[in-house]
Amino acid sequence: MATRNKSAKTATKSRTPRVEVMNHPTNPKPSAKPEAKAHSSSRNNGSIAHAKGKLGVMIPGMGAVATTFVAGVEAVRKGLAKPIGSLTQMGTVRLGKRTDGRSPKIKEFVPLAGLDDLVFTGWDIFEDNMYEAASNAGVLDQRLLDQLKPFLSSVTPRAAVFDHNYVKKIDGPNVKKGKTKMDLAEQLRDDIRDFKKTSGASRLVTMWCGSTESYVVAGEAHQSVKSFEKALRENDETIAPSMVYAYASMMEGVPFANGAPNLTVDLPVMLELSRQNEAPICGKDFKTGQTLMKTILAPGFKARMLGLNGWFSTNILGNRDGEVLDDPGSFKTKEESKLSVLEHILQPDLYPELYGDMYHKVRINYYPPRGDNKEGWDNIDIFGWLGYPMQIKVDFLCRDSILAAPIVLDLVLLMDLAKRCSELRGLGIQEWLSFYFKSPMSAPGLYPEHDLFIQLMKLKNTLRHLKGEELITHLGLEYYD
Ligand SMILES: NC(=O)c1ccc[n+]([C@@H]2O[C@H](COP(=O)([O-])OP(=O)(O)OC[C@H]3O[C@@H](n4cnc5c(N)ncnc54)[C@H](O)[C@@H]3O)[C@@H](O)[C@H]2O)c1
Repeated sequence: MATRNKSAKTATKSRTPRVEVMNHPTNPKPSAKPEAKAHSSSRNNGSIAHAKGKLGVMIPGMGAVATTFVAGVEAVRKGLAKPIGSLTQMGTVRLGKRTDGRSPKIKEFVPLAGLDDLVFTGWDIFEDNMYEAASNAGVLDQRLLDQLKPFLSSVTPRAAVFDHNYVKKIDGPNVKKGKTKMDLAEQLRDDIRDFKKTSGASRLVTMWCGSTESYVVAGEAHQSVKSFEKALRENDETIAPSMVYAYASMMEGVPFANGAPNLTVDLPVMLELSRQNEAPICGKDFKTGQTLMKTILAPGFKARMLGLNGWFSTNILGNRDGEVLDDPGSFKTKEESKLSVLEHILQPDLYPELYGDMYHKVRINYYPPRGDNKEGWDNIDIFGWLGYPMQIKVDFLCRDSILAAPIVLDLVLLMDLAKRCSELRGLGIQEWLSFYFKSPMSAPGLYPEHDLFIQLMKLKNTLRHLKGEELITHLGLEYYD
């Protein structure tokens, strides 16, 4: 789908149904027992409970992203590799003035779960364990996987909640049976309780790493917990499997992050549940590859008031994700997520002479020989002083899951932090985690912030705020007093 001459206002209206339909529930009453109360806060970390005990990571979809993440965590734990790309593991946060010299690592500044505390489970329609699934995905070197084999083989998939109508290109045998979607949700809740008990985890987080589902718009069933539960009992076809996982997680008080562009938690019912049960939610579709590049480059053009005539993006990829996206329904879901980025960053309504007439097109082509090593081409037509045109070509030979895995790790740790934090856990949407998503979530009526650098500042300022540190505005006049 191409976009041309569309004002940001129109685009926002047509692409984000949540703006029209979401309501913040007032005085929410928990409709289910949330996870055990967090530990009391300490003097050092204010209202953030300690990260005590094991953190259980539950992953619907044990494919390329999930296995690259889990294998990566184990490789880092064994000292075989470094967690490159993870802000929580490698990033620092500056505190106070530039002259203070205080820049602790994020993981030392806020109390995050340690990698040794992570335990894993997953669901998939295929019966492969994590070792087999990682070998099939072909992302990581087989020699590395073989060193991790005993651990990876021990993570076996639970039977999935799956509906072929939502992911047309794949089918598998490891699927739950139930008379209604409510039965299936109950079975997932049993799985969650079982994992918590058998793994000894004190806290849980769910990360959707399943396939991209067919495009669906918010409807009657999604407006409230009441209507959603009725629809679950009536097998309403507008309830996608990912929504059943999200419902089950939040009913158990477990935070839910969505790595795919599916609607899943971008619905009034999920916001209501999230707030009621203190189960944080955040945006959808991990920001990797081409969209990462877009959110790095576009803010630069805008900062320098360079105009944009057009941005043509095409991709070839050959993994299972690429095969799923070959179906028009799943591609539409992805396309919506990828297209919204530029208009929100460039704000054509504020800068009509620069961005009012831009043409933005995204293509994804399934090309098996490329496997997970996607190639993304961008042709960018910009213009400068007196309207003189220039071109930029980007050819990004990236590895999708290598870029996604550290995002999964950071989200696991930061969603768990949100759950332990008295100020954040009842908010529902965690906008400060926009940094990680192609489609960040924001409060109803508020446009999402897509600029990677603003997102990073927001994330770090949120951490400073939680710890009672001064926010950094970059004003800096005091250095010249
Ligand atoms: N790789 C990236 O960089 C990247 C970036 C952004 C978003 N994503 C999204 O993340 C998701 C995972 O990507 P991937 O490359 O790992 O794909 P993948 O195809 O390798 O893995 C997805 C897995 O989900 C399983 N699955 C599908 N429906 C399921 C269900 N209802 N319950 C349980 N399992 C289910 C599939 O069987 C498959 O094993 C996709 O939606 C993709 O679009 C990936």
